[in-house]
Amino acid sequence: MSGVAVVTGSASGIGHAAAERLEREGFRIVGVDLREAEVVADLSTSGGRDAAIAGVREQAGGGIDRLVVAAGVGGVTKPASLVARVNYHGAVAMLDGLLPLLTEGSDPAAVVVGSNSAGLAPADDPLVSLLLDGDEEAAAVQADASHGELVYMCSKLALARAARRRTAGFAEAGVRLNVIAPGPVRTPLLDKQLADPEVGPAVEAFPVPLGRWSTPDEIAGVIAWLLGPQAAFVHGSILVADGGTDALVRPDNV
Ligand code: NAI
Repeated sequence: MSGVAVVTGSASGIGHAAAERLEREGFRIVGVDLREAEVVADLSTSGGRDAAIAGVREQAGGGIDRLVVAAGVGGVTKPASLVARVNYHGAVAMLDGLLPLLTEGSDPAAVVVGSNSAGLAPADDPLVSLLLDGDEEAAAVQADASHGELVYMCSKLALARAARRRTAGFAEAGVRLNVIAPGPVRTPLLDKQLADPEVGPAVEAFPVPLGRWSTPDEIAGVIAWLLGPQAAFVHGSILVADGGTDALVRPDNV
């Protein structure tokens, strides 16, 4: 493979592992992150998102072939509205803002990093519709009145829905788009969750049929597969990569 792969959240965890993997496949990486990236930008603000898109356009120097939207923060992040701003609005802004560059790429494909926790969000939580309506400030007020972990789940549920709602538009533009929904992955984000006295024990207690958490590289492997030619007919899907937790907890949710 050759071409340009854009990875948000490239400085750490899943994004970093995905960038390394895609680089090994021959892509030139344009990373977007708060630090240690080709494009340093803050995806929690609209100005930062605009700067990220402009920076990618400049660094790519033409179309882009792959996009991984991985930048995100955990539910213990304060204020909770920051979780919504980065995990939902920042992610959707990258998808929509980079679509024109993807349409100029070769066999272009994008993967959004969701979470298996989206399946645990109350589907009718008002935050989900505020996010999907794109009313960032109203969503921020709602998020700050809610619990960070709930905001995290709602932001990932809304993100998965936002991606699925783009299935037709992205197909028309010639770009495949899928969501990966990991369970716990050993990254600095998970470490912060584990260090929290309230959230940590809940994460530890969550059942994983395979009996362990995943590594960033395992998730990067699935992302690379979704982006590659073997997944040429996979579009609009949510691929759960969580060691079996979602199937255990919600066996009939198909
Ligand atoms: P991480 O903390 O290792 O990496 C996240 C990266 O995003 C960091 O490099 C960080 O600087 C960047 N980032 C955060 N806020 C940003 C902002 N405002 N602007 C630009 N970049 C920003 O976390 P991890 O675990 O690799 O998370 C990646 C994605 O995977 C996130 O969307 C997360 O919600 C998701 N995820 C993680 C799971 C886990 O257990 N680690 C499980 C399921 C989903």
